[in-house]
Amino acid sequence: METESIVIRHARIIDPSRQLDRVGDILLGNGEIVAAGRLGLDRIPEGARVIDGTGLVVAPGFIDLHCHLREPGFEYKETIAAGAKAAAKGGFTTLCAMPNTDPPIDNAAMVEFIHQKARKESAVRILPIGCVTKGRKGHELSEMEELATAGVAAFSDDGDPVYDANLMKLALTYSSDLGLVISNHCQERSLSCNGVMAEGPVATHLGLDGIPAAAEEAMIARDIALAEATGGRLHVAHLSTVGSVPLVREAKDRGLLVTAEVCPHHLTVTDQWVLGAKGAASVAAGGLAYDTSTKVYPPLRAQSDVEALIVGLADGVIDCIATDHAPHDLTSKQVTYQEAAFGISVLETALGSMLQLVHSSKLSMAAMIDRLTVGPANVLGEKYADLASLQPGTPADIVIFDPDQEWTVDTSEFASKGKNTPLEGTTLKGRVVATIVAGNLVYEGPGLKIQEARGRT
Ligand code: DOR
Repeated sequence: METESIVIRHARIIDPSRQLDRVGDILLGNGEIVAAGRLGLDRIPEGARVIDGTGLVVAPGFIDLHCHLREPGFEYKETIAAGAKAAAKGGFTTLCAMPNTDPPIDNAAMVEFIHQKARKESAVRILPIGCVTKGRKGHELSEMEELATAGVAAFSDDGDPVYDANLMKLALTYSSDLGLVISNHCQERSLSCNGVMAEGPVATHLGLDGIPAAAEEAMIARDIALAEATGGRLHVAHLSTVGSVPLVREAKDRGLLVTAEVCPHHLTVTDQWVLGAKGAASVAAGGLAYDTSTKVYPPLRAQSDVEALIVGLADGVIDCIATDHAPHDLTSKQVTYQEAAFGISVLETALGSMLQLVHSSKLSMAAMIDRLTVGPANVLGEKYADLASLQPGTPADIVIFDPDQEWTVDTSEFASKGKNTPLEGTTLKGRVVATIVAGNLVYEGPGLKIQEARGRT
């Protein structure tokens, strides 16, 4: 389908795939990037829509390796349509949808169902992730080749680990032949038991069961050993502890095919938030203590974990930022902390959260964009590299954002059905102004300045 020409002028163009960071113009036409650089007016086609990019950043659209769209089966929590709108608002142009649906995505017909729904109801690209085990039950491998042929982008039983080590070993063996990663939710259940938040002084103070860091680290260590034994492609989902970072670093140093992701909340929010007062230093439980919107797996952890994750992300040991967008209905959260569902609705706040690290000089702007574009594309494989580039001839999947625009998180304005975020009422600095997928303007946000289409002169 032919799309109109769009030109974004005088923007800061950041394309980590080519180490490009300069002020200039970018021209899109026929769904592709046509040119990026300093373009004279004579290069701008007649009738093109002109977006004033002054003060804005233009980058490849973000790719989310890990989100939960809940369809089919849990449409009261999220739908593909609502999740896709939330993605566009958050600057994401590609979403990898986890298969913990009902039924789970464990056969070709289910993959086709997601593809069809996405074609009809989503303006962003949706890449289904297939189950590692049949029904996500952990007993028998899914038909991985059938799933790969049907077009899954990766395999995962997320929400649950692949608990059986021999099944994980087999899955990793097939992963290299199929060229797709196994993304594992690393949680040693015999250690996490009934835990609902991170083990430590806050859990003790609140009288809640804690989850030790070793529950994550023990399974990452197991999986790395299996990746080494098989030559398989292991991706560590939502890595969250200070001790997990050196495990991944050493595996990479040894040349193993191991990658990892970290979520915005694990980089910016600590277990102090479970005490209430939105993380303000406090020793006593405040009025907002036991706020179930802070309940997530892996749990929010200590400041020392947050700092180690930021360093790991900045130096590239952690390949990418993934949202683990986990929308839930109100009733799953309006219960006791012990009973509440795990998960945070993240797609619409991810950029604002990540820019906190940029504004505080803990992460460069280029590195942040790299970890939201090139990083996840590399995990998925060569086939997806064009989605993370502003190189002429690649698909025009683009985010335009204002790094300095302040806004207050108001979940009543969320496109996602999931209003479950501890960030409700907080102020974030940095907001998506527009999102473009295959040359189509799919989201127009506050601060977008579209000038008259350029006419014949
Ligand atoms: O908090 C989480 N929620 N972590 C997961 O791994 C799964 C997710 C969900 O599906 O709700």
